[in-house]
Order: sequence, then structure tokens, then C-alpha cells
Amino acid sequence: MVKLTSALALASAIQCIDGFASTTVSRLSRSFYPHALKSALPASASDQFALLFDCDGVIIETEELHRLAYNAAFKEFELFIGNEPVEWSVAYYDILQNTVGGGKNKMFYHFRNTTGVFPAAGNDPTPTTPEEEQDLVDRLQARKTELYKELIAEKAEARPGVLELMDQALADENVRVGVCSASTKAAVTKVLDVTLGEERRKKLDVTILGDDVSKLKPDPLIYITAADRLNIDPARCVVIEDSVVGLKAAKGAGMKCIITYTKSTENEDFYGLGCDAKVPDLGSRGVNLDMIFGPMKEDLSRDILVDVRDAP
Ligand SMILES: *[C@@H]1O[C@H](CO)[C@@H](O)[C@H](O)[C@H]1NC(C)=O
Repeated sequence: MVKLTSALALASAIQCIDGFASTTVSRLSRSFYPHALKSALPASASDQFALLFDCDGVIIETEELHRLAYNAAFKEFELFIGNEPVEWSVAYYDILQNTVGGGKNKMFYHFRNTTGVFPAAGNDPTPTTPEEEQDLVDRLQARKTELYKELIAEKAEARPGVLELMDQALADENVRVGVCSASTKAAVTKVLDVTLGEERRKKLDVTILGDDVSKLKPDPLIYITAADRLNIDPARCVVIEDSVVGLKAAKGAGMKCIITYTKSTENEDFYGLGCDAKVPDLGSRGVNLDMIFGPMKEDLSRDILVDVRDAP
């Protein structure tokens, strides 16, 4: 009983120091581990580091799931141009990604610019007016969104090495762990529950989402807010991102940034824009916690991941 009372007292003290309710759950879950409690006290805050993950692209690669969802919608609608079913290949979806933003625009681009012909859905007549074309694209997009949600629930899995690195960080008393994503709370919670599992998600020290900040990436506000809530100097925070937009947000906040690129971002000039280390993914290069924070413990300005990153 005495033990429980003092644990609760400590936990509530931490909550006050922390001053932020949404980190409380994870602090409480850590509070059953005495070393974690100790490390949460302000006296040791200067020893603390933070590892912050972007979600879409870093924890999961969503591009392929979006492509599969479009193709599944096209198939359901029985979309044909001539005798050919409408289907987007990996290579072609990459081109679409880098040419037009937004799903409906991708479809318009495909039918107006690439094929030059709108498809007919099943036995329906081919749309002939802009209104009919818009109506078909609206219906396709609505169905694609539904199918995408189902695919996330079934298939989403973490990119290689993410869970391993996150677990090392969660187990280290000197490292705080967070997710900072521009997506909405419902979307991210769903994705994180599927990829990380609910138990691991609840251990995160901080989760900052698009709904929590007034300015989205590339504005640094989301990462500045995370450092603030964790009460950790941005110079002691390391962000993992996959895009130029995310890199700019991290560097703008004064943090180190590791890029795990995807096929569609591999040719970006990440080093030119200030990234500290670039790797195809965490798993294939065996990225571990010590490669990141080992050098920083000696000197915050030291390079990280020197032995495994792509050449700058
Ligand atoms: C698609 O074609 C239209 C009409 O020719 C053109 O105005 C538009 O810029 C093209 N879109 C792209 C993304 O190239």
C-alpha cells in the first residue's frame, strides 16, 4: 500500500512537471519501472534525448496501399478503355505521385492527359460532359477511400527496422519516443494500432498530430511542440522522416534528421537540404540506438550513423 501511494504521488508529480495530459498515460505505464521514473525527473532532463518518428512513409509505406486501393476500385467499377482494364502499375503510379497531387487529380490526369479518353464503368455509357466525368471520378475516389481503409486494417505493416529501433528507444531510460504526423488523429491512431500494436503505441511519450498544430510541415511547429512537451532541447532530438517536406520541418526546429527514403523520394537532394544521414530503410542498414545517440552523447555536433548512411 505504501509503495502504491508513493508511486502514485511520484506519478502525479511527474504529471505536474510535465504539464501535459496526453503524455500521462505513457508516463504512468513507465512509472512501474523505477529507473524510468528516475529518468523522468527534471534533474536528469539534460541527459535526455528524444527520437521522433514521422508516420506516413516512415512507419509505414502507404504509397503501395494507395495504388492497390485505386486498382481495386477500378476493378469493382469495371473500368475499361477499349478492351483494356484500367490499372496503374508501380512505375506509372510513381509518375502520377510526382506529377499531380490528390487522388481525383490523378484520375483526371490519367483519363485526360495520358489516355485522352474517359473510361466507361461496366455497361454505363462513357461520360461525355465534364459533369459526368466529375461524377465518375467522385464515385471512384469515395470507393477508393473505403478500400484503402480496409487495406490498412488488413495489410499495414511497419517498414523494416522500425519496431526494433522503437523498442530499443522505449527500453532506454534516457530516450523519449514520439510520433509526429500531419494526418488526423483517427487516421494515425488506426495506422499505429495496426503497425505498432496498441500496447506499443500507448508507451509512446508523445504523439503530436495535424489536429494539434496550427501550421503543418514544412513548418517546424509540430517538432517544436514535441520538444516543448517533452521538455527536451531540440538539439537533443532526432527525427526520422522520408520526405523533403518533413526534413525541412525537422531542420527548421533545430533537430537532427535521418531520412529513410522510398522509391519515389530516393533522388531528392536530402543532404543538400541539411539531412544528417540518409538510408534506404532502418532495417537493411541495421540502424540501432547507439549509432544515433552514441556520438551525440560525446558531442551533440558529431555526425550520426557514419558507418551505415549513404555517402553525403
Ligand atoms: C493535362 O493536360 C491539360 C490540357 O492539355 C493541361 O492544361 C495540363 O497542364 C496537363 N496536366 C499536367 C499535370 O501536365
